[in-house]
Parts: sequence; structure tokens; C-alpha cells
Amino acid sequence: MVIAGILAGGVGSRMGQRGMPKQFLELAGKPIVIHTLEKFLASPEIDAVIVGVHKEWLHLMLDLQKNYFGEDKRIAVVIGGNNRNETILNIAEAAKEKFGAVEEDIIVTHDAVRPFVSLRIISENVSAAEQYGVCDTVLGATDTIVQSENQEFITDMPIRSQMYQGQTPQSFRIGLFESVYCDTEEKEQNLVTDACKLFFLKGYKVHMVEGETSNFKITYPFDLEMARMMIGEQKNDQHAV
Ligand code: CTP
Repeated sequence: MVIAGILAGGVGSRMGQRGMPKQFLELAGKPIVIHTLEKFLASPEIDAVIVGVHKEWLHLMLDLQKNYFGEDKRIAVVIGGNNRNETILNIAEAAKEKFGAVEEDIIVTHDAVRPFVSLRIISENVSAAEQYGVCDTVLGATDTIVQSENQEFITDMPIRSQMYQGQTPQSFRIGLFESVYCDTEEKEQNLVTDACKLFFLKGYKVHMVEGETSNFKITYPFDLEMARMMIGEQKNDQHAV
């Protein structure tokens, strides 16, 4: 069984005050999280989708679920956690309780605010997680990456061809994630918010799936403008055909 875990438990502070977290903001007439959900529901490899949402926005998410997907039994909504990995943990728990998933089953975790994820990326995540146990979606760096440990001067300039930017999905066997998370000290659990980094720190070989520029994360107001432009362009393209 393959479950998609949509991470919508954040409050989107970097987006500024908009009255609601960024995953609920409108993009071409629909909340961003709905676009993302539709992608996973359209993916032939995905059996069920679980959304982890901030407790204050649970009712809104449940209303959206009803309005957009009616009685579709493949969707469940759970309350997220205090950090990203806790949200994944809650989703993993729900995968077992609500859909009968077992430890060996795969969870494809994805930021609710990356609505342009492609079916190719989802499919390659499922295959890689089945083969290697854990995988991350990454994009080769186009800009030179500069490191600064003191935020004033450059302390390192790594070789660009070896640098990648992390995206999502990040996919793994459910039982593997639970054991890696529980095996991590509480202090580290709060510091390391990236699930694949937890695997990496525990010595697991994390396989890489090739990401796409369009699979960007809506973080700042500029990203939302960009997403709106992209949807507009896609529509214009369709008219042109
Ligand atoms: N997320 C989550 N549970 C949390 C924190 C974050 O599911 N406890 C989700 C967010 O909803 C988002 C994704 O993880 O879809 C990526 O995180 P980020 O872009 O950092 O989102 P926010 O934490 O909402 O944003 P900000 O850091 O600006 O507050």
C-alpha cells in the first residue's frame, strides 16, 4: 500500500498576515492544498491520501474535503504536530488506523504548498522508496552555493556540481520512519525538521529522485505571485492548442 501524506500543519509565518495559513490561500479559484491533493489523487500509484493540518484549521480543512471530494473514501484529515516530523508521525499513525497500513508500506510525504509536483516525481518516489527504503526529491543547484558560519563572511564555497536543493516528496517505509524518529533524542527531534536528514544522520543511504524547478515551495508572497502566473500561463497554453 502507498499512502500520500500531505503536510499542511504549518502556519506560514513567512507569507505574512493573510488571515489563514498559506496552504489555504487561493490559486486559480481553489485553495493551494486542494491543487496538491488533486495531484496525488490522480496518481495511479497512490491508494489513499492523509492531510495533516494545524489544529486551529481542522474545521476549514474538513469543510474543504467535503466540498471538493464529497464521500471519497481515499481521503482522511488528521491534526498535525508541533513540528514537521511530528505531523508525519501523526499521518503514519492514521495510515495504520484508518487504512490498515503496515510497517512495510510506503508513505510519500509532500508539502501542501508545492502544488506543481508532477506525476513523474510521485511515481519515481514510490519506486525508489520500494527499492531503497527511503528517498528524497532534489534539484541540482543552478546558483553557486556559498556557506557562511558567521553570517558575515564566506566560510566555504562547495563545488556546485555536488550541490542540490531539497524539495519534496520525501518517501519511506512507515515503520522505518517511526523507528528512526523514536530513536532520535528529543533535542535533536526539535532541531532536525527534515525527515530525510534524520535518516541520513542515522546512517541510512537516502536515494535521490530528480526534482523540477516548477516543484517550488510557496513560502513568500513572491512565490504565490509566481504560482498564479504559472497557472495563468498554463491556461493560456491550453487556449493556444
Ligand atoms: N508543516 C507541517 N507541520 C508543521 C510545520 C510545517 O505539516 N508542524 C508543513 C507546512 O504546512 C508546509 C510544509 O510543512 O506545507 C513546509 O514547511 P514551511 O514551508 O516551512 O511551512 P510553514 O511552517 O507553514 O511556514 P513558515 O516557516 O513560514 O511559518
